[in-house]
Amino acid sequence: MNSTECGGGNPLSPPGEPESSATRIELPLPDDWHLHLRDGAALRHVVLASALQFGRAIVMPNLKPPVVRCDQARDYRTRIREALRAAVATAHSPVTASDQPPVLRCEPERRAWLLEEALRFEPLMTLYLTDHTTAADIDAAADSGLVHAVKLYPAGATTHADAGVSEVGRLGPVLERMQKRSLPLLVHGEVTDADIDVFDREAVFIDRVLEGLRARFPALRIVFEHITTRQAAQFVRQAEGPTAATITPQHLLYNRNAIFRGGLRPHWYCLPVLKREVHRQALLEAAVSGLPKFFLGTDSAPHAARLKEHAAACAGCYSAPHALALYATAFEAAGALDRLADFAAVFGARFYGLAPNTRRVSMLREASEVPHALPFGRGNSIVPLAAGEHLPWRFEGLIGAATG
Ligand code: DOR
Ligand code: ZN
Repeated sequence: MNSTECGGGNPLSPPGEPESSATRIELPLPDDWHLHLRDGAALRHVVLASALQFGRAIVMPNLKPPVVRCDQARDYRTRIREALRAAVATAHSPVTASDQPPVLRCEPERRAWLLEEALRFEPLMTLYLTDHTTAADIDAAADSGLVHAVKLYPAGATTHADAGVSEVGRLGPVLERMQKRSLPLLVHGEVTDADIDVFDREAVFIDRVLEGLRARFPALRIVFEHITTRQAAQFVRQAEGPTAATITPQHLLYNRNAIFRGGLRPHWYCLPVLKREVHRQALLEAAVSGLPKFFLGTDSAPHAARLKEHAAACAGCYSAPHALALYATAFEAAGALDRLADFAAVFGARFYGLAPNTRRVSMLREASEVPHALPFGRGNSIVPLAAGEHLPWRFEGLIGAATG
């Protein structure tokens, strides 16, 4: 098998004709069920990209310090809304056109309307589980009306996971209460033992932790986040009880060869790390299966370029600005563009007990190049996933009165 066949070449430019002849597609406004928005200056630079493309997002709590209590989640939500208002105000009068997300490069009237609509973006907050989380914290979260889920990071598993859980087996009373209060558990599913091969960490987590958790708390709503392996897809398909998974665009489009093509490429490094082609294929199959257990979660995780291009590169791929175009590319390559709407806009909402968005968006078949870098505040830049590659689909934005 050569590198092109196994997906490590350039999967975004498949040879030959596209499998579908559609030139424009419409779908309900999607939601992002796994998103990192960060805080401070970084937040102001990334939040608008998500708000222009998604109605809601489950916002990850791995700030420093992490979001462990409801009051912190409420304050963080306020900062997200303020940052969005600031980003919208800036976008109303951009310095240069290239500062604008492509969807805003349109007539001023339509741009103003899109920006007003973006202000309706709803950040859905989460809490970060620690060894000190109590059942009372869970009650407070369930009563708050603003916390939609609780995230389990095994201690040390990934970026800002050092305050995570050191022994999942000791979470009994907390998980019991989450089950009772119907609060979803979002799982970063990797063991952290130094003797386990980094490419096996997810599969070992299923055997050592997740199967037991599923059996011990049969009614607990579990989302296996950013799944990366055939074993994870299989686990979710077969699991009894409310079990779902999010899938990222990078795990649908790339295998681990992408990290090494032409040199070590840190912008393709995330955790859980990209896996072999057989796993990418299994994830794509799951995503286009039409099973409501699998839905969109970008895991867009921005880091300044200088921290990615570093001796110890941070884990995380920044996909938010062109997330839908990436997913459309993957679904089309699998001959399943018609399944994108449910995956992106219906199944996740259903799992979280929310109605799908009523507003609609469109995408156009029009090749566009992913920018090599984007502004990221304080002299920093950020290199998005697939930088410099050409995507066959372009996000056109909301369909509405002011389409121009
Ligand atoms: O690659 C990742 N980046 N994986 C995670 O789980 C966390 C994320 C981040 O916050 O940067
Ligand atoms: Zn994440």
